[in-house]
Amino acid sequence: MRRQHLSELAKSAPAVLPSLLLCDFGNLAREIELLEEAGVTALHLDVMDGVFVPNFTYGMTIVKALRDLTELPLDVHLMMVNPEKYIQQFFDAGSDIITIHAEAVDDARPVLDQIKDLGAGAGIAINPETPVSKIAPTLPHADLALVMSVNAGFGGQSFNESVLEKLGQIRETPGGEEILLEMDGGINSSTVQQCTDAGAQLLVAGSAVFKQDDYRVAIETMMEGVK
Ligand code: DX5
Ligand code: ZN
Repeated sequence: MRRQHLSELAKSAPAVLPSLLLCDFGNLAREIELLEEAGVTALHLDVMDGVFVPNFTYGMTIVKALRDLTELPLDVHLMMVNPEKYIQQFFDAGSDIITIHAEAVDDARPVLDQIKDLGAGAGIAINPETPVSKIAPTLPHADLALVMSVNAGFGGQSFNESVLEKLGQIRETPGGEEILLEMDGGINSSTVQQCTDAGAQLLVAGSAVFKQDDYRVAIETMMEGVK
């Protein structure tokens, strides 16, 4: 049951989810081994289509390759237009949580229902300029809300603290009381505490993990001082 991962992730919070954008794709097996040894509780996969965002990454083939390498939950962040066309394929590839962007669809609700009906966790993401009011009607259909602290599209950007208040706003919105709260973008040892103080449970980190030689040390350093 893939949706079971949602409660396990909530229990592991606050948890750092490495974003594999910067990993060594020539040696995925070794990267996964190192991340497992570092004690990570899930992997964050950034799918970019070159349309919704100006950058392009990878698709379901890499999700499937990772699925064959690990039992860690795969948290798949779809930065793409028309995500509904590909949900089934991302599910079949082994995604445990599939998150779509509110800005990429007219109505996120049927797409979130589609994800849940398949048996995966359903996430709704918002870019920094998108207010919580835009996703309020979708929250009862979602298991996870992903608050972007940079504009979706690239790793290595600076954290935008003005988005922090959205976490509390989501919690106070009907349907948001129990939702899993994830933040993504510019999270490192200097910014992580603000995120957890504001209520973030899952903390996505790319540069802060993969620019260090030792992933365990990188994650432990980030989480030092975080309650
Ligand atoms: C940005 C992605 C993030 C990003 C995180 O569009 O969703 O997951 O890669 O990378 P850092 O931690 O470098 O901001
Ligand atoms: Zn992401």
